[in-house]
Amino acid sequence: MATWSAPGKVFLFGEHAVVYGKPGVAMAIKPRVFVTVRKSRNPTRPKSPYIDECFRMMGVRGSVYVHSQLQSSSGLGSSAAVTVATLSAINDEFNLGHAREYIAETAFAIEKKVQKGRASPTDTYVCANGGMVLITGNSKRRLPPENLQVVVGNTLVSHSTAKMVEQVGNLRRKHPEVANPILDAIGALTLAALHNIGNPKELGQYMDMNHALLEALGVGHPASSKLVLAARASGAYGAKITGAGGGGCIIALCPRRAKSRVAGAIEACEGRAIITTIDTDGARKEKHD
Ligand code: PMV
Repeated sequence: MATWSAPGKVFLFGEHAVVYGKPGVAMAIKPRVFVTVRKSRNPTRPKSPYIDECFRMMGVRGSVYVHSQLQSSSGLGSSAAVTVATLSAINDEFNLGHAREYIAETAFAIEKKVQKGRASPTDTYVCANGGMVLITGNSKRRLPPENLQVVVGNTLVSHSTAKMVEQVGNLRRKHPEVANPILDAIGALTLAALHNIGNPKELGQYMDMNHALLEALGVGHPASSKLVLAARASGAYGAKITGAGGGGCIIALCPRRAKSRVAGAIEACEGRAIITTIDTDGARKEKHD
């Protein structure tokens, strides 16, 4: 029996702009998905197309137990975490000897298949490797980890990443003269933020700007605006939508002492708060009996 876990992820900067080759920064966060795999003649496992695909790709049969600290469909990369943790646990239980890169690439192929071509390699890469990652086009580079104190606020408004990406694409076709400069500005802001990565106060201001630009792209939602404003009013350095928007989650960068106050303000606005920080481990072995 082998148990592996994998973390969730947030976008610190650059969502949507990364789809058009601009730079973006994503970060693995502490809440995890834990997956146990056991060789078995009569396999039992949760109904999940991701887990089914993991076994098909690895060519083995086994039972699975999943425990998740991440809400699904919230934009925190839970499907990538389930897929990466399941592949890692299968790899271990059946002594297949695959490296982490192979797990990340296979997880991306699985997400792409299950999501009918609409998957981002960011989620599977960040979740397999952990830490902070700079994304530019198809290239990904791990950045030195920063101890950023963050509170994630889930609006509990479900959203579709595919729909939001399509919406931005439509805006870009209809008004390229407006949409393209906004995407350029997000890219420029991401690079400027990288130069201030060790200064959370500055970083917070860049987050606020990034949020305004995302709203200008049309991916805001009354529920995320409410949580962003509440987080700022209760002491966050800055706050923004994280991920595709149209509901989903926000992220607030906070002084350590303000984290619980910010979380309380988010909960008071009917959001669900997660107090967290960077995860530097990525996919991790928990147990092997
Ligand atoms: O909602 P999420 O966490 O899956 O993030 C989507 C991020 C986008 O930039 C909008 C799309 C992408 O594939 O990068």
